[in-house]
Order: sequence, then C-alpha cells, then structure tokens
Amino acid sequence: MSTKQILQKNAKKALKKPTPQTRRDFLILASGAAGAVGAGSFLYPFVSSMNPAADVAAAAEVDVDIKSLQLGQAITVMWRGKPIFIRRRTPEEVQSVQEKDASKFIDPELDKDRIQKPEWLVVVGVCTHLGCVPSGQKPTDNRGEYGGWFCPCHGSAYDVSGRVRQGPAPKNLPIPPYMFLDDTTLRIGKEAPVNV
Ligand code: FES
Repeated sequence: MSTKQILQKNAKKALKKPTPQTRRDFLILASGAAGAVGAGSFLYPFVSSMNPAADVAAAAEVDVDIKSLQLGQAITVMWRGKPIFIRRRTPEEVQSVQEKDASKFIDPELDKDRIQKPEWLVVVGVCTHLGCVPSGQKPTDNRGEYGGWFCPCHGSAYDVSGRVRQGPAPKNLPIPPYMFLDDTTLRIGKEAPVNV
C-alpha cells in the first residue's frame, strides 16, 4: 500500500467515527489549517480530499506558519508528496531525549544533531521499515513506548526526536531540509544557509 493510500485510509477512518476527543483534535488541526499553512501544503485531515494532481503538484518549498501550534501539538504538511511531521515539543519531551550517549540505539544519533531549535522537531513522517505513516500526531494517538510515534504496521516505535527505538525499522525518521524564516515561519524544502 502506498504512503498516499495509507494516509487516505487513516484520514477516512479518523473522519468516519469521531469520538468527542478525536473531534476536538480534528478541530484543533482544522482551525489551524487556514492560517497555519501556506499554499501548496496540506494538513493531515484533508489528505482524503486531495486529488492526484494536487499531490503531484506539491510545492518544492512550503512555508508553514507555526505560531498557533501549542506546546505538545503537532501538524502534518505535505511536501513533495511526503507527510512532514512538525511537533512543538514540551520541556519534558525535550528533556526525555537529552541522553549523552546514543551508541546503543538502533540508529545512533543525538537529539542535538537532529534539530535546529529544541522546541521544534521536523521529520519526514514515513516509517523507515516499509513506508507506513506512524501514528502519534494527535495526543490521543498511540505514540508507543517512547512517546514519539508508533508504526502499527509491524510495531516500530520512535521517540520524540524521531529516532527509532524499537524495530524492525532500521533508521530514524529522516530530517527534511528546512529553515526558520523567522520565529513563527518554517520553510520546508530549503536548508538554512551555513555561516562561514
Ligand atoms: S512499516 Fe513501520 S514497522 Fe513496518
């Protein structure tokens, strides 16, 4: 099943049986949609309404207004046909991934090497095992043992740095190119210039 099909299936499922909690989560995301994300990008709940042309036409660079995102919230935007998870981490979540030695992890990497600002994590939301989209974007989702994301396809678990902590996924969630245009705007698809 392709990433898009999985997104569509999950989005349809989420829209079909809204519990009071999921309805609220949806509204939080939906209310952020108009003001939060620039042209050419899509929030997760709206993926089911995408047509193939819209997917293919996903912009090379996507600007995302992140000012309405509260601590602990996450949004998904589509960039070049891939879901990008943007999560505003709480101080507790940041603290939970500050270990000094990650050498025993499946894909050893320190959190500081994966972020630009501690509060903000930006990752490609595609499981590195076989390409499912992990759950965990909503606080009510199963986020797995490590509090980040859980892939229901074969049980991989990621922490709040997007690092795989339980297989079979072999690699951490990739970091897309991105930069902060200012304190409240992210540009996905472009690296920050390196100061020399
Ligand atoms: S695709 Fe995620 S665990 Fe297999």
